[in-house]
Amino acid sequence: MLILGLNMFHADASAAIVRDGEVVFAVAEERLNRHKHFGGFPALAVKACLDAVGAKISDLDHVAVGQDSDANLAKKVQYALANPAKILNFIRLRRRKETLRDVRSLLAKALQVDSSQLRFQEHHLEHHIAHIASAYYCSPWEKAAGFSYDGSGDFVSTMMARCQDNDIEVLDRVFLPHSLGSVYTMICEFIGYTKYGDEGKVMGLAPYGKDRYCDELRKIVAPSDSGFHLDLRYFKPLGSNSGMQVLPDGTVRLARHFSGRMEKRFGEPRRPHAEITQRDMDLAFALQHRFEEIFFHLLNRLHERLPIDDLAMAGGCALNSVANGKLFDRTPFRQTYIQPAAGDEGLAIGAALHTYHSVLKQPRRCHLKNSYLGPEFSDSRIESALQSAGLSYRKLARDPLLEAVAAQIAAGDVVGWFQGRMEWGPRALGNRSILAHPGLPNMKDVLNARIKHREWFRPFAPSILAGSQHEYFERDHPSPFMLHVYRIRPEKRSRLSAVNHVDDTGRLQTVTRDENALYYDLIRAFQRRTGIPVLLNTSFNENEPIVCAPEEAIDCFQRTRMDVLAIGPFLVLKAGNSRAADSASPHP
Ligand SMILES: [Fe+2]
Repeated sequence: MLILGLNMFHADASAAIVRDGEVVFAVAEERLNRHKHFGGFPALAVKACLDAVGAKISDLDHVAVGQDSDANLAKKVQYALANPAKILNFIRLRRRKETLRDVRSLLAKALQVDSSQLRFQEHHLEHHIAHIASAYYCSPWEKAAGFSYDGSGDFVSTMMARCQDNDIEVLDRVFLPHSLGSVYTMICEFIGYTKYGDEGKVMGLAPYGKDRYCDELRKIVAPSDSGFHLDLRYFKPLGSNSGMQVLPDGTVRLARHFSGRMEKRFGEPRRPHAEITQRDMDLAFALQHRFEEIFFHLLNRLHERLPIDDLAMAGGCALNSVANGKLFDRTPFRQTYIQPAAGDEGLAIGAALHTYHSVLKQPRRCHLKNSYLGPEFSDSRIESALQSAGLSYRKLARDPLLEAVAAQIAAGDVVGWFQGRMEWGPRALGNRSILAHPGLPNMKDVLNARIKHREWFRPFAPSILAGSQHEYFERDHPSPFMLHVYRIRPEKRSRLSAVNHVDDTGRLQTVTRDENALYYDLIRAFQRRTGIPVLLNTSFNENEPIVCAPEEAIDCFQRTRMDVLAIGPFLVLKAGNSRAADSASPHP
């Protein structure tokens, strides 16, 4: 049975294909059309899903979409009636959503087939149920607490659910305009981070701030019996502008969230690219602090209703790895499962798996243990891309390749590492990564100056061998998808100076041999040379979506000051790198 899952006309549009209950392939459209956070129809992703299983669009049995414009309609109408100025906007939005529901026509057009050939059944699933489904049905558990939170989806910002066997029973929803994601976005915009997806940057800025505005933030968002509520005077009224808007070309744009009251209280908003002041850092600190307080309040409420150890969690806010890393100290939950695409691209697998398990009552069989669900490329395709680019290269067997790359990294070189299937979700986890020595104090500056050009305050992340995590970090709970931040043990901080953030933490990736043998063995080879079972791992890109195809990796290698490219079995050394040139001679 083939089920196609879709997130469409929403940020991070994506497609996933589930065959007999197993997620076989999944990809966000941005990786294929190179348009970051693309929010249109994921036509290329759909084609890639079908190619991956050798199917035609007419072979699909079901198509499931992680959005349902009919969900929570009474709440939407109630809000519109109570706010007459917003009714026109409400009607306009609803008309647009109606046209986007015609999945059959959209797919027929994208695949250039007659819609009469399409025999699939169509399913629409409420946004947050799809989020929770993406976590629970990929987890190993038969029972769990389900939690989802983000800016908004189908008029809801937060959902709690009982997950058991094949079913997800919604226990509670927090409706708009009350949204923890909106609070985060609003303060991000106020301090000059105005693009969709900038929240992660501000999370990195927060530890540079001091506790100056925490009490003020407590006035803006407060816990309540129903979850939490916002002081709406600090926000532009919901519906008074276009909110998060997807332009006709798929670009996702945010309209201003904060009101004049923010300016009265905190002064002029920071303009993007202006100098960051202590005020901005203190606001980031207070924001992260208050976000965590409300998050733990919600989780503790959930645990009171469902006293169980296991938490399946998703939604854009579940990418807040700092909060995730603290939840074991602040709540009774003992284990989390957060699938790698916790944000909106993950809706595609959530909707597809929900159809399989909850609608069709098929048995549970999927435990998603790694993120390698994307495209892969043959050695011959990679080699012809290298030849087209006019690069000299050597082809190496597995062990010599690992030894050569480990030696380059140990010597301080920056390596582009392109292997196997691309990761699903926003993190590079050892298949489309840029790798470097985690213990060189200047490596963060080197990477920023040469390749990444990121804000000075953003940390780089460590990949660590699973067996060494307890030696280096204060927490043992695995973080296979780089979604937890833990404190680094004091005695190890100097060995991890390039990945030790200002608050002595790291957003780690726990690497096991079972899930990525090549990457694991590379870190082992590096450990044999340096004694450190860790690599600095940042995504393989430069101000663009993470590279997907060999040509994109080669282009990124050539236009940046990366020293080495290890792409499949091929090793490329950049001309002019004297250390690299010493250790290998190029292929004729
Ligand atoms: Fe979402």
